[in-house]
Amino acid sequence: MKTKIIGHRGGAAGYPENTLASFKKAVELGADGVEFDVQLTADGEVVVIHDELIDRTMNGSGLVKDHKLSELRQLNAGEYLSSEFKEEKIPTLAEVLEVVKDLEVINIELKNYLPYPELEEKVLKLVDQFELREKVIISSFNHYSLQKIKKLQPEIKTGCLLMSKMINAADYAFKRGFDALHLHFLTADLEVVDKAHFMGMQLNVYTVNFPDAVNELLAKEVDMIMTDELEMALEIRDDFSKDQI
Ligand code: G3P
Ligand code: CA
Repeated sequence: MKTKIIGHRGGAAGYPENTLASFKKAVELGADGVEFDVQLTADGEVVVIHDELIDRTMNGSGLVKDHKLSELRQLNAGEYLSSEFKEEKIPTLAEVLEVVKDLEVINIELKNYLPYPELEEKVLKLVDQFELREKVIISSFNHYSLQKIKKLQPEIKTGCLLMSKMINAADYAFKRGFDALHLHFLTADLEVVDKAHFMGMQLNVYTVNFPDAVNELLAKEVDMIMTDELEMALEIRDDFSKDQI
């Protein structure tokens, strides 16, 4: 099997996370896919941003959910990293899908610790508009939300995000009909990888930024490696695949 390399929040090192600049660069670098986080604005638009607060990555303050899209668009979303990116704005989900729609995998993480009414319905509607049902995997730390996704559209793949090394993680996810475990890479031992595969689920890991860890996870045959260092991980994976032939 060939492990897929997925750009985490875009994943192009040196590019601001979750911006169109980072997603365009991920496509250019040859990523197999990208992962990104979605939330809702005050006027119900699906936007791509990691933190609930805009303070870290934008030149404003407060919660995403308390700003209308038009207000957020007045701010920049890239200057926190470099003045080179001062024109970057917070992207909508539709804008990101337009950029990444030809990649093999699109991992949409519902970042909904806060309640976002109908986030699931809105995301699924856009996935359908772009005809991306086959290649999208929706993940979340909010497993109620994943259950809702499964109820609304059973054929959409879901990834059960976990932070801790949970007892019987594979059984937990399988029992709820999820399609994948999305584990912190340090918790992905061979036992859980093999068990997930035995149960017909994917085993995907985040966020892997060191060459040794990439090599170890390739040897364990995880399905997807999410990384902030796309160039590094793609090079190691491609060398690894050559050695397998
Ligand atoms: O989806 C994997 C990973 O992105 C989860 O953690 O905090 O980077 O969204 P976080
Ligand atoms: Ca994420």
